[in-house]
Amino acid sequence: MKIAVSGKGGVGKTTISAFLIQVLADRGRQVLAVDADPSPHLARALGFPQAKNIRPIVEMRDLIQERSERCGSFYRLNPKVSDLPGRFMVQRGNIKLMVLGAVQQGGAGCACADNAVLRALLNTLLLSPNEDIVLDMEAGVEHLGRGTIASVDHLLIVIQPYRGSLETANKIQTLGRDLKIDHLEVVANQIQGHKDLDYIEKYLKVKPIGIFFASDEVREAERAGTPIYDSSSRLTKSAQELLTVLEHTK
Ligand SMILES: Nc1ncnc2c1ncn2[C@@H]1O[C@H](COP(=O)(O)OP(=O)(O)O)[C@@H](O)[C@H]1O
Ligand SMILES: [Mg+2]
Repeated sequence: MKIAVSGKGGVGKTTISAFLIQVLADRGRQVLAVDADPSPHLARALGFPQAKNIRPIVEMRDLIQERSERCGSFYRLNPKVSDLPGRFMVQRGNIKLMVLGAVQQGGAGCACADNAVLRALLNTLLLSPNEDIVLDMEAGVEHLGRGTIASVDHLLIVIQPYRGSLETANKIQTLGRDLKIDHLEVVANQIQGHKDLDYIEKYLKVKPIGIFFASDEVREAERAGTPIYDSSSRLTKSAQELLTVLEHTK
């Protein structure tokens, strides 16, 4: 199963990705975790040793320059990237992790060449036939292109019971419809009670397919700087339930 996790910054994409990845790994699956967030934290959430030392591909400027063959505003549309997973992937048990990062919007220079390398790499990773894939990404999905997003089985939009995250979810839904993506699903995070769920359903007019409660254990793990993925048995259960629903939705 290939799952992409999107949503406004801070809604809990990395947290939910980490729980989903660990539950898949505990089921004996080979899991490929891809961190495509501009500020990547998935390695830490998953308890990878040396998480701090893993450099996102997007920050390897020489490599990006070499592969994109960028010259002024010209660059390769199909850069060679097939050797990069072998060189830069890190592994813990049956979880492999690749940290791509993302091009910061409004940054200096042309983002197109960088995006071409990241997109090619992501497409290569998504072709992997024998692994489950969880892609932790940012809110915007348009730079990834329709082809990339269409090749995931589920595009999850994480929301919290606050207007800001629901507005972003609406934008992602519109974008998804424009890209003709029909496998968009909403997952609610930091839920404290039924009032939160009522508010979400009223605003979005859809029922979330997964619910993750606000967890003191996750807060404590985050504050202590310890891994998140196994910090709360309640959220592990939420991830198990969500995966079961996803398996039956396609
Ligand atoms: N269900 C939850 N319960 C408690 N804290 C949470 C929960 N989900 C996320 N958090 C906390 O909220 C913050 C943002 O979560 P994170 O997963 O990093 O968001 P994102 O990846 O969307 O930016 C983190 O400090 C995380 O520990
Ligand atoms: Mg994140």
